[in-house]
Amino acid sequence: MIYLDNNATTPLAAGVIRVMEKCLRENFGNPSSGHPPGRNARKAVERAREQVARLIGASPKEIIFTSGGTEANNMAIFGAAKRFKAGHIITSCIEHPAVLKPLKYLERTGFTVTYIPVNKYGIADPASVVRNIRTNTILVTIMHSNNETGALQPVEKIGRSSRERGILFHTDAAQSVGKIPVNVNKLRVDFLTVVSHKFYGPKGVGALYLRHGVELAPILYGASHEKGLRPGTENVCSIAGMGKAAEIAQKELKERVRNMRGLSRMLFDKLRGNIPGIRLNSHPSKRLPNTLNISFPGVIGSVLLDKLKHDIAASTGSACHEGRHTPSPVLKAMGLSDEDALSAVRLSLGRDTTEREIKRAAKAIVKAYHDLRLKT
Ligand SMILES: Cc1ncc(COP(=O)(O)O)c(C=O)c1O
Repeated sequence: MIYLDNNATTPLAAGVIRVMEKCLRENFGNPSSGHPPGRNARKAVERAREQVARLIGASPKEIIFTSGGTEANNMAIFGAAKRFKAGHIITSCIEHPAVLKPLKYLERTGFTVTYIPVNKYGIADPASVVRNIRTNTILVTIMHSNNETGALQPVEKIGRSSRERGILFHTDAAQSVGKIPVNVNKLRVDFLTVVSHKFYGPKGVGALYLRHGVELAPILYGASHEKGLRPGTENVCSIAGMGKAAEIAQKELKERVRNMRGLSRMLFDKLRGNIPGIRLNSHPSKRLPNTLNISFPGVIGSVLLDKLKHDIAASTGSACHEGRHTPSPVLKAMGLSDEDALSAVRLSLGRDTTEREIKRAAKAIVKAYHDLRLKT
């Protein structure tokens, strides 16, 4: 089985397993306790905070651990909304449901939301964000890269214009962290979402970067953990695993980019050479190095994947919407017809993908495609 669904999730890195195993066996203390077992657990959490902070160019004090990307996004959006009580929010129409659904809820409670469109490459125009800023705009939330297409959004430019106008800026960097360099200062973000299981760390843990000095109202109430924003005893061993994954990502980042870019190019070239009319649904270069969202003319993406189910694990649209045979709203927003959107498959490579796998995957996809076309 060739695993090409690394945007859905990634396997744990060996170093992460080692850290977590040791932690699960030895580090049972409550990080809030003052005795040695407690202090050891606290050490593990604080070490991870430093490792995660280093990966995104933040200070450890600016990292709030959460249960994942969904919670980090909710924390930023509802936290900002609660702080301001009313106002206008700008987002893009290709955000993950973990951003769109909180915003839909806020609309029902009196906030107004502007959804910025994207071009044919799936990229939002920073000028359109500026044009839509109002006197009561309280928050801009635009993802760093899209989970389905890998399209990189002009977050740095949007960060600059939001900062100039004193508007809070959040970016969901779930898909970018660990795949490409991400630096919170370069991006001028106030909040940034990090998801451990997208970069070889455990599931059910993530972080929100919260710029020093920026206030956020809590959405959970309890004790004073994580600056009072995420009360509840820390998920110590998952946090430790996430920290280790961040450390490994930082060491491997350049090599990851080079390998994944080379292999995804090879895969696309092999497919393009053997299947006339395939279409890359993203920007040719402004996209994650590992992501290929491809429309295969004349077939249904999910049918193609079903035919490949013994050879390749991949997905149509994003894994979160799996099982739904409606065209992806992200691809529709890019102007694709229903037919082209339904024929799309997302192939997302990982740090462990090999050239041999790519050659085998290309062969299998080409064969499955032509078999299906013969039947129709
Ligand atoms: C862009 C993006 N944001 C948020 C999330 C949600 O992360 P989690 O499943 O860890 O809550 C995902 C996961 O697929 C994602 O791709």
